[in-house]
Amino acid sequence: MSETIENANTPRVFVATWGCQMNEYDSAKMVDVLAKNRGATRVATPEEADIILLNTCSIREKAQEKVFSQLGRWKPLKDANPNLVIGVGGCVASQEGHVIRERAPFVDMVFGPQTLHRLPQMLDDVADNGAGIVDIAFPEIDKFDAMPAPRAEGATAFVSIMEGCSKYCSFCVVPYTRGEEISRPFDDVILEIAELAEQGVKEITLLGQNVNGYRGPMADGSICDLAMLVEFVAEFEGIERIRYTTSHPLEFSDALIEAYARVPKLANVLHLPVQSGSNAVLETMNRGYSVEHFIERIEKLRAVRPDISLSTDIIVGHPGEGAAEFEATMDLIERIGFDAAFSFIYSSRPGTPAADMADDEPRALKKQRLKRVQDRIAVFNRQLMTDMVGTTQRVLVERESKRGGGQMAGRTDSNRWVNFEGHPRMAGHFVEIEITEALDNSLRGRIKTHETVVEPLAPA
Ligand code: 5AD
Ligand code: SF4
Repeated sequence: MSETIENANTPRVFVATWGCQMNEYDSAKMVDVLAKNRGATRVATPEEADIILLNTCSIREKAQEKVFSQLGRWKPLKDANPNLVIGVGGCVASQEGHVIRERAPFVDMVFGPQTLHRLPQMLDDVADNGAGIVDIAFPEIDKFDAMPAPRAEGATAFVSIMEGCSKYCSFCVVPYTRGEEISRPFDDVILEIAELAEQGVKEITLLGQNVNGYRGPMADGSICDLAMLVEFVAEFEGIERIRYTTSHPLEFSDALIEAYARVPKLANVLHLPVQSGSNAVLETMNRGYSVEHFIERIEKLRAVRPDISLSTDIIVGHPGEGAAEFEATMDLIERIGFDAAFSFIYSSRPGTPAADMADDEPRALKKQRLKRVQDRIAVFNRQLMTDMVGTTQRVLVERESKRGGGQMAGRTDSNRWVNFEGHPRMAGHFVEIEITEALDNSLRGRIKTHETVVEPLAPA
C-alpha cells in the first residue's frame, strides 16, 4: 500500500476558519464528516496535516485577496508534499468557484457551504483523477441529511436548524453564497438534541442565518416555527438553557415573545440586528420593517422579560445614510439601550443591490460615526456589567479559566464570562455565583452554592 493511501485512510486535517459561528459550526462538521468516513483527526497546524481546509467568509470583508495570500503561504507545503490535499470552502468559495482554481491551480477542491458533506467523495475524486474539484451547487437534498451523529464536547452545543437566507438585504451576500432559506425537519432537530442531552449537554444554541424564519416540516405534515421548537426543546430534562442566533426583527413573532414568558429555560438575552435607526435607510436596505416596528417588538418583549439583555448589529455608512439618518441610529441606540452591538462600516459586496447605489460619504466621516456608535455602546455595556456586581448569577461552568490558579470560567444567562475560584470537577455544571467585580470584558465572582447533581435513574 502506498503512503498516499495510508494517509488517505486516517488523514490529519487542519481547518482554518474565518467568520461567524455558522462557519465555526461548518468547520466542525467538515472534521466530523471526515472523521466518520475516513477516521480523520483534527490537527492544530497546517505543517502536520494531510488535508488543509480553508473555510472562508465574505460577509464584510473583501476576502478574495486574503484567500489567495493564505493559499500562497501554504503552497510551499504542497510543493514539498504533492500528496497534501488543499481545499477551499465556505462563502468565498461559492462566490469565486472556478476562479480559485484558475488563480491557484494547486488547490485540489473548492466547495460551498452546502456541499461540505460531499468532502469524502471529493477526496476520492482527487485521489482517483488527480484533477481539481469544484462543487459549489445548492443541492436539493440538503446537507443536514448527510451529517454524522453529533458528538458533544462539554456542556454546550450548537444545533443547526436552518440554512441560508431569503431576505435579500441590499448589502448582504448571504442569500447568494448560502442560498435561500431551508429548514431542517423537526424530527431531525429533536433527535440531534436528544442525542446531545444524553451526552450531558445542558445548553443548546439553535443556529441559523435567520432562525426565526424556521419552518420545520413535522411528520404529520404541519409546520413547526421557532417558538414551538423552543417549547419542545425545553421539554428535555437535561437541557437547562436554550439560546438561538441570529434572528430578524420582521419575524420576531408574538409567539416567540410568549415563549419568553412561558419558558424560563430560554436564556435572558436577545441578539436582534437592527442595522439602522432611520426608516429611509431601512427601506433602502430592504429590511422590511420600520424603526417603530422594532421598538414595538422590544417593548412587548420587555413587558415579559424586563431585564433581558439586548444586543444588535449596526451598519454605518450604507448608501443613502447622511448625517440625519446616522443621528436617527444614535437616537435608537439611546432609546433601546443595547447592552452590546457588533457595528461595522458598510462594505460594498459585488453582486449585491447596494453595490450599484451611490456611496458618497467620505470614509473618514464613516469612521468617526462608527466610533460614536462604539463609544456609546461601550458605556451601556460597562453599565450592565457594573449593575451585575452584587447580583447572583446562574453560571454554566465551561472550563478552567485562562488565568489559571484554580480559576474556573463559565457564562451567565446573558452570555457574560465569569471567572471564579472553583474546581475542574465543576465543568459542565450550573453553579450560583455572586458577582464581585466587573472587568472590561468579563466578570469576577464567588461561589454561593453548588447545585446538587441528581444522577438520572437507570432505565427500567
Ligand atoms: N457591510 C457591512 N456590514 C455587513 N454586514 C453584512 N453585510 C455587510 C456589509 N456588506 C453585517 C450586518 C449583519 C452582520 C452579520 O454583518 O450588520 O447583521
Ligand atoms: Fe443577510 Fe439580511 Fe439575510 Fe441577515 S437577513 S443574512 S443581513 S440577507
